[in-house]
Amino acid sequence: MQKNISLSINGNKISTTKSKTIVEAAEDNGIYIPTLCFLKGKLDHSNCRICTVKVDGYHKPACSTLVADNMDVITNSDELEELRKYIIELLFSTGNHICAVCQKSGDCELQALAYKYKLLFSRFEHLYPNKGIDTTSSDKIIMDKSRCILCQRCIQAIKDKDGNPFFVLQGRSNALEVVFDKEMNDIFTQEDAIEAVKQCPVGCILSKESAAFETPIGRRQFDKTEIGNKEV
Ligand code: SF4
Ligand code: SF4
Ligand code: FES
Repeated sequence: MQKNISLSINGNKISTTKSKTIVEAAEDNGIYIPTLCFLKGKLDHSNCRICTVKVDGYHKPACSTLVADNMDVITNSDELEELRKYIIELLFSTGNHICAVCQKSGDCELQALAYKYKLLFSRFEHLYPNKGIDTTSSDKIIMDKSRCILCQRCIQAIKDKDGNPFFVLQGRSNALEVVFDKEMNDIFTQEDAIEAVKQCPVGCILSKESAAFETPIGRRQFDKTEIGNKEV
């Protein structure tokens, strides 16, 4: 039986269950904490740090930190807002993000966060990486690797029936990238492809078959509703 516990988020007492992460407990109580790499049920990776909050005075990732009794969580200080802006700007600077020509525009979580935080430019130098576009490893998806934010959601979420991931890490350091394992192309179904496109928070994984502009830009998910749809 799960234990009821109480904690404070932004000075308000809330009750929740012990197995929840801070992100989940906050969401249950109408408090939005931005996430990019978070996948429900997966606590073993915290790659983006956009969800950083203060827990009893210390910075912690809200997506992989479980709630505890009497915990004191701050999600919305000026310092945390600035940290999040910093991370978003870094992601724009280290990838190639030209939203005007991106299929994911309007459905992209990174773009939606940039809008939420009213970011018009990045204070960091744009690196304009050219990591290539993989059109051949899969007959169902393409990967524009210069847009990948290395969140690893595809690796965690898209697996065959034996639990083997279709997407894998390759290389190291600055050359680290996520690639589709072409040896698994024969068992990669259209449903897997649709789910991979959905799980990718940016426009790195794109379907070859989907009608990319079926929903016109301007009428997509985040064109209509701000990400989180609440004040941070
Ligand atoms: S992935 Fe997102 S942020 Fe990058 S170009 Fe596409 S819409 Fe813009
Ligand atoms: S391909 Fe998409 S889901 Fe996979 S690591 Fe890159 S950004 Fe994340
Ligand atoms: S969402 Fe928590 S580290 Fe990425």
